[in-house]
Amino acid sequence: MKTYKHIGEFRAALSELRRAGNAIGFVPTMGFLHEGHLTLVRQAIRDNPVTVVSIFVNPIQFAPNEDYETYPRDFDRDAAFLEKEGVDYLFYPSAEEIYPDGFSTTVNVSGLTDGLCGAKRRGHFEGVATVVTKLLLIVSPDNIYMGMKDYQQLKVVSKMVKDLNIPCKVNGVEIVREDDGLAMSSRNFFLRKEERDSALSLYNSLSLVRKLINEGVTSSEKAKVDVINYIHSYKNTRIDYVEFVDPDRLKPVENLNVSFVCMLAVYVGGVRLIDNMVFYR
Ligand code: PAF
Repeated sequence: MKTYKHIGEFRAALSELRRAGNAIGFVPTMGFLHEGHLTLVRQAIRDNPVTVVSIFVNPIQFAPNEDYETYPRDFDRDAAFLEKEGVDYLFYPSAEEIYPDGFSTTVNVSGLTDGLCGAKRRGHFEGVATVVTKLLLIVSPDNIYMGMKDYQQLKVVSKMVKDLNIPCKVNGVEIVREDDGLAMSSRNFFLRKEERDSALSLYNSLSLVRKLINEGVTSSEKAKVDVINYIHSYKNTRIDYVEFVDPDRLKPVENLNVSFVCMLAVYVGGVRLIDNMVFYR
């Protein structure tokens, strides 16, 4: 695996491969890799002759009160994982390489970012859309792979790629869970033992929604009240949002007899976790 920190030399290396007709699969990450990331990497390797992974903790997608400084980082461990999987290229730029002095352009996807994490984390998706656009322009991949745990992010990137005619296929990959159902996330690392139990409230409340649907409940209002009460039955939980939304437009749905996504954001202690489940009807 070759590691590059500078855009110029990284682009030069990739352009030779592209000239030789190799399709490139790309997995953007913020590092501190887990099985969820490695599942994206494995799919990229299966689908493409060349696989590129980036590790970049993107400062502009964190608000000043969020966890940019403390976000977990372990480059050597990540690089060893990627090498073992058979990744060809690792892009590991500094913040100054991506946002040099005087950088002043942002990408904003309106509509899809109005609610959910877009409403709760002001500026977050502008930061994500800006860095993903830059990475797509640097790597020029044929395929990008992103996890469905960040469902809104996947929708935002898909819309941005379509709107900007970026010639890349966006591949959403199923959520990878621990044996007990907790969605894998780099932030799980911060959970203390007693918080780890409360973190299960997210997956278990998605299972509760499945049960309610099977029992014939169709009111999102009722399902929401049940989910909120259920999450509050766990210690140290604080709900950021519980929403039932249309899978494409991400607008709230009232009647659950259509396809919908149950989207959750919950603080467990000081750790903000998200999870979701798509219900096809
Ligand atoms: O999902 C992430 O890890 C990040 O939001 C991404 C897509 C790498 C952009 O910084």
